[in-house]
Amino acid sequence: MSDFHRGRRLRRSKTLRDMVRETELRPQDLMMLYFVAETDDENFEKPITSMPGQHQLSLARLEQRVGRAVDNGLRSLMLFGIPAHKDEQATSAYDPEGIVQRAIRMIKQNWPELLVCPDVCLCEYTSHGHCGIVHNGDVLNDPTLELLARTALSYAEAGADMVAPSDMMDGRVLAIRETLDNAGYENLPIMSYAVKYASAFYGPFREAAESAPQFGDRKTYQMDPANHREALREAAADVYEGADILMVKPALPYLDIIRQVRDSFDAPVAAYQVSGEYSMIKAAAQNGWIDEQAVVMESLTAIKRAGADLILSYYTEEVLKTL
Ligand code: PBG
Repeated sequence: MSDFHRGRRLRRSKTLRDMVRETELRPQDLMMLYFVAETDDENFEKPITSMPGQHQLSLARLEQRVGRAVDNGLRSLMLFGIPAHKDEQATSAYDPEGIVQRAIRMIKQNWPELLVCPDVCLCEYTSHGHCGIVHNGDVLNDPTLELLARTALSYAEAGADMVAPSDMMDGRVLAIRETLDNAGYENLPIMSYAVKYASAFYGPFREAAESAPQFGDRKTYQMDPANHREALREAAADVYEGADILMVKPALPYLDIIRQVRDSFDAPVAAYQVSGEYSMIKAAAQNGWIDEQAVVMESLTAIKRAGADLILSYYTEEVLKTL
């Protein structure tokens, strides 16, 4: 008898490996992300150069694309809007006829079962590109809360199944929860971007959503990538304020944070594989340097293994075809 562990015994065949696999990606774990643009051109479909395969879409094009994804098993999606008009008060964000509100109505009409979760933030709607009201170069916290809550409510009224605040203002989950409850939406869940880092991995998204800040950066509201204890404070605050799902973002560079949040809280944990993570895989794949599908599956599996129950990924449409 050998006196060492023979780990290879359970790796001998695919059947055995499948049998003892600990982590599995399921279609219901994946949420797709779409950029919908306010335009009169029905055929508008503008490629996002830094994210090959992703587009800004007109409502009509979004409908086609979501339809195909649903045929491939899509269960849930998140929406980002690119409004025709931006101003200091982000008025397009909470306009009942805003592009996201119209997209929600269109999707729910076509596919009542599909879970629609708009991102709630102001940066795509403000002329300065910050996630809140700006005064003397400062992003004001408390005056921003009311606008975020108004935006979330207007998405709820349009038929959203869940809302996901991504702005990182303090107290926004509570403000949104109270506003939704007062309007009779006490059953609408909030998925908060609880632990959101000030990450350079969002670079391509800002081209996609045309939401780059016109001055400064987001470091006064998004978290310092060096911190992990702070992640637990942020998550605890959001749980206390009424968040139903806690998100960690980005995903792959922050697997330790996903694990800590998973181990410290009972709430479901989501992880967002952000634009830069997508673009890096795409770029390497386009150069023939990596096997794209294998790297995508490995990355998503690692994110799940770290503790994510749910993953937001621009690869969702592609991955669903293989599951
Ligand atoms: C809006 C928002 C951002 C992302 C999701 N919601 C941009 C940001 O915070 O600058 C980033 C998503 C990605 O990079 O894919 N605040």
